Amino acid sequence: MHKSEFHQILLKKIQSVVLAESDLIANMANVCAILHEELNHHWIGFYRTLNNQELILGPFQGPLACTRIEFGKGVCGQSAQTQKTIRVANVHEFKGHIACSSKSNSEIVVPCVYEGHVQFVLDVDSVHFNQFDEMDQSFLEDVVETLAKQHFKKI
Ligand code: SME
Repeated sequence: MHKSEFHQILLKKIQSVVLAESDLIANMANVCAILHEELNHHWIGFYRTLNNQELILGPFQGPLACTRIEFGKGVCGQSAQTQKTIRVANVHEFKGHIACSSKSNSEIVVPCVYEGHVQFVLDVDSVHFNQFDEMDQSFLEDVVETLAKQHFKKI
C-alpha cells in the first residue's frame, strides 16, 4: 500500500476516535496509542503549553521524557516559539536539541496554533536518520488539525 493511502486510512481512524470524545487528554492518549501501534516510531507524544512560555509533558508512548521545555529551547520549544512545524533529519546537528533518549536520530514537531497561541505540540522521534518527509509532515499536521477542530475551533 502506498504511504499516502495508509495515512488516509489512519487519519480516518483517528478522526472517528477523536470526534467521539470531548476530553483533550483522553484523545491525545488514544492518538499516541494509534500512532505508536501503526507507525512504531521510537517516541511519540504531546507537550501542552503552560502560560504561553513553557511546554509540559502530556500523553506519550515510548521511553521516559523530560517534563518541561521552555519556549525557544530544543526542537519542541523552537516549534512552539516559531509556531511552525520543524523537521530534523539529524538531531545531533540541531543546535539546542534536547536528547531525552540517546536512541533518537531524527525528529518532527508539529505545533497546534489557535487564536495566535500554540496550545500544544506533537513530537515524534525516530531511531533512523532522515525518517520524516513532507508526506509525514502533512499527515501529522492533519492529525493535529483534527484535535484542534474538536477541542479549540468548536463554536
Ligand atoms: N527532543 C526534544 C525533546 C523532547 S523528547 O524528544 C521526547 C526537543 O529537542 O525538544
